[in-house]
Amino acid sequence: MNSPTDTDVLAGRQAMTDNAIQRVLVLEMVRVTEAAAIAAAQLIGRGDEKAADAAAVEAMRKAFDTLYMDGTVVIGEGERDEAPMLYIGEKVGMGKGPKIDIALDPLEGTTITAKAGPNALAVLAAAEEGCLLNAPDVYMDKLAVGPGYPEGIIDLAKSPSDNVRAVAEAKGVEPRQINVCVLDRPRHAELIAELRALGCGVVLIGDGDVAGVIAVTDEDTTIDMYMGQGGAPEGVLAAAALRCVGGQFNGRLVFRNDDEKARARKWGITDLDRIYKLEDLAKGDCIFAATGVTSGSLLDGVKRRRRLTGEVYMTTESVVMRASSGTVRWIRGEHRIA
Ligand code: FBP
Repeated sequence: MNSPTDTDVLAGRQAMTDNAIQRVLVLEMVRVTEAAAIAAAQLIGRGDEKAADAAAVEAMRKAFDTLYMDGTVVIGEGERDEAPMLYIGEKVGMGKGPKIDIALDPLEGTTITAKAGPNALAVLAAAEEGCLLNAPDVYMDKLAVGPGYPEGIIDLAKSPSDNVRAVAEAKGVEPRQINVCVLDRPRHAELIAELRALGCGVVLIGDGDVAGVIAVTDEDTTIDMYMGQGGAPEGVLAAAALRCVGGQFNGRLVFRNDDEKARARKWGITDLDRIYKLEDLAKGDCIFAATGVTSGSLLDGVKRRRRLTGEVYMTTESVVMRASSGTVRWIRGEHRIA
């Protein structure tokens, strides 16, 4: 029998496509986050955020080329004139196959990586065309809780205290037994004081609120809620993860000036005060993939290891999840160093 030609292979893949998010694409997304994480990991602890970010961006861009999809970056490294690669609107993938929108952050936690802190990730979300919010690069007020609570238990329109009380009541505990993860920023001084006045445990993180939000879905972290302002693009990425593993999320864009409002309008956002829920940020079927750059609550970081034979290799830990099936795969990779 003759071996299949490239055209046969592509035709075969097309035939397998009964919905836009192909099952094969789910696993292939991990190659992309792995490549970015390995590249960024070379710069862990080197004090150079920009170099670490650039390495991750370049590696992620290259890894996308091998994916059978007609992808478009909807959340990326910035607008076309400000980012050389992975800018919003850039086409990624082979340009054939399903039309997929991609939200990405090749290095979520540039400062963490530069300082060798915890929880830096290479991360992306993918969904059918038009299913991810084109979030402008502004702040977002975030409120998240893990799975298992009645729908609507959290509400960004209510005070932090009311939200904590509601979650505590549903959990059958006192508010002082609720742990809340918050980015350690001066802008959160009031929020932190309010939570501490209730007796809550406030888990302060230096950076990396994608991992911070996802932490509410993992009992082992003992984090019940996530609160506070972080990047809106990171909010969409975290929402895609919660769509896959459960939990609730409220997000509201925060505008510091007219320029930011104008940017939001440019992306088609008319209601600037809207509270977005999970389905508003990532609807339909979606994939979330992440590889650890530095070790943290979600994933182990990239590690350089040496076999008894003397061969040096890298290990990675990744997670890839899909909303429609709820499947969560933890993938440990061993990579030869070329
Ligand atoms: P970078 O990787 O772009 O540095 O983002 C890290 C991060 O901590 C995000 O996780 C978070 O959403 C955002 O920065 C918060 O922004 P700021 O540092 O301005 O408070």
